[in-house]
Order: sequence, then C-alpha cells, then structure tokens
Amino acid sequence: MEKNFKRTLVTTALPYANGPVHIGHLAGVYVPADIYTRYLRLKGEDVILIGGSDEHGVPITIKARNEGVTPQDIVDRYHGIIKKSFEEFGISFDIYSRTTSEIHHKTASEFFRKLYDEGKFIEKTSAQYYDEEAGQFLADRYITGTCPHCKNENAYGDQCEACGTSLNATDLINPKSTISGSVPVLKDTKHWYLPLDQHEAFLREWILEGHKEWKTNVYGQCKSWLDMGLQPRAVSRDIDWGVPVPVEGAEGKVLYVWFDAPIGYISNTKELMPDKWELYWKDKETKLVHFIGKDNIVFHCIVFPAMLKAEGSFILPENVPANEFLNLEGDKISTSRNWAVWLHEYLVDFPGKQDVLRYVLTANAPETKDNDFTWRDFQARNNNELVAILGNFINRSIVLTHKYFEGKVPVAGEFTEYDNATIAEFASVKEEIEKLLQNYRFRDALKEAMNLARIGNKYLADTEPWKLAKTDMARVSTILNIALQISANLAIAFEPFLPFSAAKLRKMLNMTECDWSRLGEMNILAEGAAINAPELLFEKIEDAAIEAQIQRLQETKAANEQKAKKANPIAENIDFEDFLKLDIRVGTVLECTKVPKADKLLMFKIDDGLGGRTIVSGIAKHYAPEDLVGKQVCFIANLAPRKIKGIESQGMILSAEDFVNNRLVVTTTNSEVSPGSEVK
Ligand code: MF3
Ligand code: ZN
Repeated sequence: MEKNFKRTLVTTALPYANGPVHIGHLAGVYVPADIYTRYLRLKGEDVILIGGSDEHGVPITIKARNEGVTPQDIVDRYHGIIKKSFEEFGISFDIYSRTTSEIHHKTASEFFRKLYDEGKFIEKTSAQYYDEEAGQFLADRYITGTCPHCKNENAYGDQCEACGTSLNATDLINPKSTISGSVPVLKDTKHWYLPLDQHEAFLREWILEGHKEWKTNVYGQCKSWLDMGLQPRAVSRDIDWGVPVPVEGAEGKVLYVWFDAPIGYISNTKELMPDKWELYWKDKETKLVHFIGKDNIVFHCIVFPAMLKAEGSFILPENVPANEFLNLEGDKISTSRNWAVWLHEYLVDFPGKQDVLRYVLTANAPETKDNDFTWRDFQARNNNELVAILGNFINRSIVLTHKYFEGKVPVAGEFTEYDNATIAEFASVKEEIEKLLQNYRFRDALKEAMNLARIGNKYLADTEPWKLAKTDMARVSTILNIALQISANLAIAFEPFLPFSAAKLRKMLNMTECDWSRLGEMNILAEGAAINAPELLFEKIEDAAIEAQIQRLQETKAANEQKAKKANPIAENIDFEDFLKLDIRVGTVLECTKVPKADKLLMFKIDDGLGGRTIVSGIAKHYAPEDLVGKQVCFIANLAPRKIKGIESQGMILSAEDFVNNRLVVTTTNSEVSPGSEVK
C-alpha cells in the first residue's frame, strides 16, 4: 500500500526532440499522467506535472548532419511541434521546458560535479574509435562495418540490424566512419562511470522488498536486471552536443544523454518554482511518480534512483507506472517506417476531436500488455460509446429540459423505487474511481465513468419522459431533474479523462465549479437554475473518414515493402554442391535461457538426436525464453563452433527476418519430427 503524502510530483518521460509525437507517446505516457494529475488537482491536492523535450543524444546529431543543419536547429523545430501537440491535446503541464535551457545545463553540470567531487564515479581509460579526418571520437552509431556473425556489411557499431546481435564497435570487420568515410583508429579516452554494482544491494532492497506493489511488468523487469548483476555505466561521451563534462581536461566530452535527461525533471521544476522546487524534490512528504514507457524502465527504476541516492539529498520515486507499447493496426509503431498516427496530423483530419482520441487511447491503453490501435476500433468506440451513450444521454437531458421547462432545472418530486435504484448506483462511484486511479488503472477508471453514462442513458430509455409529457408533468419534472443531476456527475467524472467535453458540458449546465467531492451526489444543480442551449459533444464518424486513414496506412506499407525489396535483393546464385555443404537439422529445445549481460542473446540446449549441443542465438528481443522450450527449431549443424560471450555456440538457429514488421521468427517444421532429422 502506498502511504499518504502531502504533495505529488508527477513527471513524464522527456521525448527526444528529433521527431513529432504520435499516439503511442500519448497512450503510454502523457494521457495517463494527465488523467492522474487532473484528478489530484480536482481533489484540491498539491500536485505538479512536469514535462519537457530531451534535446541531447547522438541521434539528434546524426539527423542534423544528414540535413546539413545544426543540432540546435533540429531541436528547435521539434520542441515547438511537440509542445504544441501536447497543448492541443490538453496535457496540462505546469511546465514543458527543454534540456538545452541554461538552467538545465547548470543543474545537470552541478549534479555531476557534486558526485565527482565526492568520489562517487570511477574513471576508466579505454581505446575507442577516432576519426582522424574529422578530428573526433566516434559514437558507436557513427561507425559501420561488417558484422562478425552474419557478415552483413552495413552493421552499426552498437548493433547488427540484420542478425540482431548487439556489438561493440571494435567487433566490426572493416570499420568505417560515417562522418568522413575514413578508417577510424583506436585512441585512448577517459570516461566517468557510475558504479551501479556498488548500489546493487541498496536497489535490490528498495525495489524487490520495498516496492512489491509496483506493476508486475515494472517489477519483473527490475528483478531480471538486478538478477543479472549491475555493471558500472559510462556517464560521459566524446561528442560535442550536450552538457559539457565540468572537469578540467574533459574538453570535448559531454554528459551521456541518459545522465542529463532525467535531471531535466529537476531543472524544469526549478524553472517553474525557483524558490519552492526543493519542497518537491527533497521533502519526504512528497510523492514522486514517473510516467514512462517500458523501454525506459531501467533508467527510471535503477540508474536515476542510483544517481539520486548517490547525490544524497533527493527523494526517490514512489512509483513508476510504466506502460507497455501501443501497436498500430497490428504492427509496431515506427518513426523510420512512418508507421504512426502523428498527433499534429490527426488534428488536421479530425479537428476538435482531441477527446475522442484521448478516450480511445485510454479505453485501450497498453497498461498490462502491448495493445493495438485500429481505426475500426476508433470509429466503433466513437460511434457506439461516445455518441450513442454519453453524447446521446446528455443531449436528450438538455433538449428535453428546454422543451418542457424553459431551460430551468425542474423540481424533483417523490422518487419511485426505480429512481432510488438508479440513484443508489452512484453512491459508491467516487470511491471506486478513486481506488482505480490511485492504483494507476486508468482503463478501468474510465470504464466506471462510462458506466455512469450508461446508467443515465438507460434511465431515460426506461422512463420515457417524452411519452409522459402529455399526462404527468410532475413525473417528467422528477425524471429530468435526476437526468440533469446525472449529467452534472458526468461533468465531474469525465474531467480527468475528457477535459474538453467535460468543460463544454459544465458550460451547458452552467456549473461554475467542478468539485470532485460532490461526485455521486444528486443535488449538484439547484432547482430552478438556468441551463444553456445544448451543444453537440460528439458526432458520428463516417466510414469514408476511416477508410481514408486505412488507405493511407496501406500506401505507407506498400512503399515500405518496395524499399525493403530494394534493400534486400535475392543473393547471387550458388551451385548445388554449395548447397549440399550445409547440414541443416531439426532439434528440440530442451532449455532456453537469457545470456547474462547480453540483452540480445539466448542460450539454447538442443536435443539434436546426437547427444545434444549448445547454440547461442541473437533473438532475445523477440522471444521469452520459456516460450521456446519444447519447440522444434531448424539449425545449421556443421557451422564451425565459435565463442559468443564466453559460451561455445555449436551451430546457428535459423530465423526468418520479417523485414516489414522488424521481427525475427524461428523456423520449424510443419509437424513434429525426430530430433536430428535433416532438412534438405
Ligand atoms: N528521451 C527518452 C526517450 O524518448 C526518454 C527520456 S526520459 C528522461 O526514450 F528521464 F530521461 F527524461
Ligand atoms: Zn549480423
């Protein structure tokens, strides 16, 4: 159970300012954080929502180089676009700043310097590639060469995208600098490392014992990192874009982007409240909550807490409710393949429909597993839920009030049993929604709110006041009073989720305040009070609009396939004899485990019908090891053994590389065969 706190500091992952933001960002981080913050504000709690752009890092420098502009040009462009998108979608940041700000450079620099002065880093000198023509050290991504495993000639210094193996730049055969094209040379360079191993015992205790309540996806990832053992991590880099390392003799070096970016949360709080920021970061009565996507878990649960702990004066996060990923129409969202719904483009096609997207993304949020956004689901949720239930109920209540009671809240007479049963359903609503929001269960909380609209809609459908108007106006008066009170409840309950529509609704009902504590009450609107003319909250989305979106994605997919075919042509013909040299067999997976300290590798023990063998394969990103146990796989049995991370790999498991979906899928036979069977 979480304890009670005096104030809450909510942070949202700082998006890289090298591209616009898309629905995945919104669903995973910003909408849930905004719901959470709005809810606490509504309750009158002391809460701030901190955001900003992450403007350092190698990818930004690569993009700038490719476009022939400066990194500052790139971040200026995207910071503006991103900030505007968040504003347009009602993400209610108290501040949205950026890591190129002066205050951030100063804050990050001082943070580093304090740890440095107190001897909290270790210094190591190692040989790294240096481009003599360009006169600079090369980040791994700036080096290409031949992959030592699969011989792909365009592998990067940190990873071969063809076989999925993670590499060190020094593993590459024929390395080449992408900056000048020259052959880089190895040169000694000094860097500072955060000795995570020294913080391991503390982190184990703090997370594994102290935070068992964290979401299982978060807790599980932390546990597997901790179980693999932590290593010192370099916190500086040899590039010229970032926060300079504030140490004499460190010219040309900057803080590693993952060191400075989370400090951005602190800098931005300082910028927001120059005098009060320490209350939010250093007082034990403050609850710090980081909203992030799952790819950021290790940085927020392990690295940043270790930094804060080493510094000594900061609080640690109380919770890190990371979400999984949102896919789009069955495929992973990808900037490079333009497989995304960009927020600024969405608003061009669906102007004014921010809340529709907020609704769909929350109803379908990837809270516990990856989820899929489809345009058909978007349309169905809009038409069948927002329009048919919520919008319809509100519209009827207000139209009928104008029709029969001159737009004034009618008097409530005696309640029938059915009225009482309906009203009773509201009694526990506040508590239920609160419990869910408190536990970061936004999907279910939204469902509860929607359920109120369902109850209201059913109430009108069952009582049919439009039929009673000829015979029993007193009854109509009571029914519409109840319907309007329910509407007022909806205006409160939906405020965190659908802020634009809730505000419109409050305006229609003439509600001057939005008091969360009144949720569930049936006397929010005073009898006789005037209400305003009805406004449409939601409108039907036609098939044509949806088909246009689907069509656009199909075109993107076709263009990507064309590109992939060009990049992935059929290899040269070989002789039959060459083919015969390959000994491909089928084996049964007996054991499959992650290789420690290698995030891409799995180690297989295979029953090959010949006494068994070990094979290491770079597919850990694509499979949970336990899912492969018992499966049969095809492997090359006569590949010369080689050592990978100290393990002798006796062969190679064959996988299909799905270039469209960026996945590796292991090959197998159509039905089970005896281990050791040859594939011909
Ligand atoms: N820019 C990172 C990403 O998009 C997130 C940084 S979060 C912060 O994955 F903590 F570093 F700020
Ligand atoms: Zn490779």
